Amino acid sequence: MMRLGISFSYALTLATNALAVSRQHLDTRQQPFKSTVITDHSEPWAFAFLPDNRILVNERRGNMRIVDPTTKSKGTITGVPSVAYSGQGGLHDVALHPQYAENSLVYISYAESGSGGAGCAVSRAKLTLDTSGGALSGLEVIWRHSQKAGGGLQFACRLLFGTDGALWISSGEINQMTPAQSMTSNLGKIIKLYDNGTAFAGNPFASQGSIQSQIWSLGHRNPLGIDWDAQGRLWEVEMGPMGGDELNLIQSGANYGWPLVCEGTHYNGTAIPKHSTRPDFAAPKAFWVPVISPAGLIIYKGNLFSSWKGNAIITGLSSQSIVRATITGDTAKEAQRISMGKRMRGIREDKDGAIWVIEDGAGGRLLKLTPN
Ligand SMILES: *[C@@H]1O[C@H](CO)[C@@H](O)[C@H](O)[C@H]1NC(C)=O
Ligand SMILES: *[C@@H]1O[C@H](CO)[C@@H](O)[C@H](O)[C@H]1NC(C)=O
Repeated sequence: MMRLGISFSYALTLATNALAVSRQHLDTRQQPFKSTVITDHSEPWAFAFLPDNRILVNERRGNMRIVDPTTKSKGTITGVPSVAYSGQGGLHDVALHPQYAENSLVYISYAESGSGGAGCAVSRAKLTLDTSGGALSGLEVIWRHSQKAGGGLQFACRLLFGTDGALWISSGEINQMTPAQSMTSNLGKIIKLYDNGTAFAGNPFASQGSIQSQIWSLGHRNPLGIDWDAQGRLWEVEMGPMGGDELNLIQSGANYGWPLVCEGTHYNGTAIPKHSTRPDFAAPKAFWVPVISPAGLIIYKGNLFSSWKGNAIITGLSSQSIVRATITGDTAKEAQRISMGKRMRGIREDKDGAIWVIEDGAGGRLLKLTPN
């Protein structure tokens, strides 16, 4: 799925970029890692490591797979709810409860249909595994977008647990723009909840109402990646419109400005005021014009890629790349762009420090990256 609403001149720019990118891609020997293909998938979106070293993989049409990386075999997890597979929507993220070993709880995010179109929902369910597959049971919706919309765009909804046991959701604004600034909408927000979906008691707007109480930060567009750094700070990547993809340091109660400010422009070419015009909004620590289309983020914590420790590693869709940014204090800067030759969707680090990525689209491959 291309980014939204592409004008003719933008399409030309994209085509030109695509040519430039494909030229760079001719020499993949430049990649600073060995890439091992594990499995291929139909439009994969996300994956999560199980304690037994198998991997859950979400495919956008609504299929959850289980991959055994040693045999490179794939099984199916039944019991996934029906999803709104349309536009950019479908089955999205998957995350294990921090006490998964005791409670077998798995969390998923997905687009669901309803009055007005589609919006994101987050559910949890118990996962029962057998040798080749498994099943979800007792599925319970614990959170959903406060409104639905047509078009099937910008759901986002990455899931991340914190050391305090809270569940964080990066909620997209489903291309509705202004709700990202509304405190009575949970679109375009970073959300912090207990594991059961109740708003977290310490949230910055906890006393102001039921939607307000869920909100940690606001003014986000299409936030597709979130992760912790070693100091416990939360970082986020989000897609801007035509230009203006952002890497943000997420702070309690902060407003990140969408759609009032942005380093990019609307798809029809209309200008958007820059972040510098509104110092009251939190500005990105790094931004991209033209876009990289960030779809996933880790802050690298391992030792295997020792010189990457503490760096933001971002998977890019239109840029068909892995982008590495260094973080110094609270500043960030792109340091490297690694051509992958495919739209890159998801990224995670395993317990040994290997980096795993998954490609986007038909035949998207799960790859394990280890140093050369
Ligand atoms: C959800 O979990 C929180 C924290 O454990 C608890 O205070 C709250 O009562 C729970 N809510 C429901 C509806 O169970
Ligand atoms: C351009 O797009 C923006 C965002 O959809 C819209 O607010 C604006 O009115 C449009 N401008 C024109 C001239 O069509």
